[in-house]
Amino acid sequence: MNRLILIVILVLLVGFPAAALFLLYNLPFDNRDPAPVQPIAFQHTVHAGKMQLPCTFCHRYVERARQAGIPSLSLCMSCHRSIATEREEIKKLTSFFEAGQPVYWSRVHQLPDFIYFSHKRHIKGGVLCATCHGEVAQMEVVHQVRSLEMGWCLACHRDRGAPTDCTTCHK
Ligand code: HEC
Ligand code: HEC
Ligand code: HEC
Ligand code: HEC
Ligand code: HEC
Repeated sequence: MNRLILIVILVLLVGFPAAALFLLYNLPFDNRDPAPVQPIAFQHTVHAGKMQLPCTFCHRYVERARQAGIPSLSLCMSCHRSIATEREEIKKLTSFFEAGQPVYWSRVHQLPDFIYFSHKRHIKGGVLCATCHGEVAQMEVVHQVRSLEMGWCLACHRDRGAPTDCTTCHK
């Protein structure tokens, strides 16, 4: 009987907090994963680093639209029909392409829906990719390096004389 009570107490004292901690660290409270695992191990270090392809070669809309845009698989295949075709990751890429199946790249940077942001304005205003994204060409896996919080946006807007009234970013 005593032993049973001891076990119950142990479960309450140790088991419950342990379970709570486990849940705390495993529930997706923050869905902004700073460096998500991507479906294909694409590397900026190879393409933007070693090969020095311009960012706009792939992110084609960045100068003219709100979204920078992620390249289509046909752009990848323009090289990978003949480059590194024996590698596992390229076989994966090719089978996605041949099945006409899109690759769902995980988003790295994501503002809340209620924020208005546009790449075009910033690129035209002379802000560099690296100011907001860090040195992507040197990242094995792209991760977020700035908070993307309001204070961060505002600090730069004040510095550079860009608008700071609420409706600039809250439409
Ligand atoms: C050969 C094509 C290619 C080039 C060149 C390229 N990128 Fe990318 N970029 C991608 C692909 C594909 C993804 C999605 C997969 C990933 O996140 O790695 C991506 C993702 C990103 C992301 C993360 C997007 C998100 O979800 O938030 C950023 C930021 C980015 N690129 C910036 C750059 C910058 C800056 C350069 C130039 C230094 C550059 N890219 C050059 C293809 C390219
Ligand atoms: C301008 C040509 C070009 C384009 C466009 C291009 N790549 Fe590449 N890619 C290369 C070259 C060159 C290599 C290095 C091959 C080597 O290591 O010999 C490479 C390497 C890779 C690798 C590493 C293969 C390995 O396992 O070593 C992956 C994965 C990859 N590319 C995916 C992509 C994806 C996804 C896209 C489209 C978003 C893309 N590439 C667009 C030229 C290109
Ligand atoms: C003023 C800061 C800033 C600059 C400069 C900037 N970005 Fe971004 N970028 C962001 C923010 C913020 C997001 C998330 C936007 C959202 O969630 O709507 C983002 C998202 C992205 C994405 C993923 C979503 C999309 O728009 O397709 C890519 C790719 C990207 N940026 C590439 C680039 C490239 C390439 C450059 C330079 C040519 C660049 N960015 C310059 C702040 C910036
Ligand atoms: C590193 C500096 C910098 C950062 C960080 C930055 N901005 Fe800007 N932003 C600018 C500059 C400079 C302009 C003015 C560009 C021009 O001359 O049109 C601007 C313009 C804008 C505009 C257009 C304003 C208008 O009506 O003309 C919006 C919207 C905007 N930014 C939203 C954001 C949001 C949202 C963030 C944070 C997620 C952000 N910005 C972060 C520098 C920055
Ligand atoms: C340059 C862009 C920018 C301007 C200007 C701006 N905000 Fe924001 N605001 C943001 C961004 C980005 C977020 C979301 C990220 C965060 O929570 O910090 C945000 C978040 C908020 C939130 C939190 C909303 C929530 O549900 O989490 C409030 C409240 C807010 N802003 C009020 C204001 C007010 C009031 C003003 C005018 C005095 C203003 N903002 C001006 C960019 C801006």
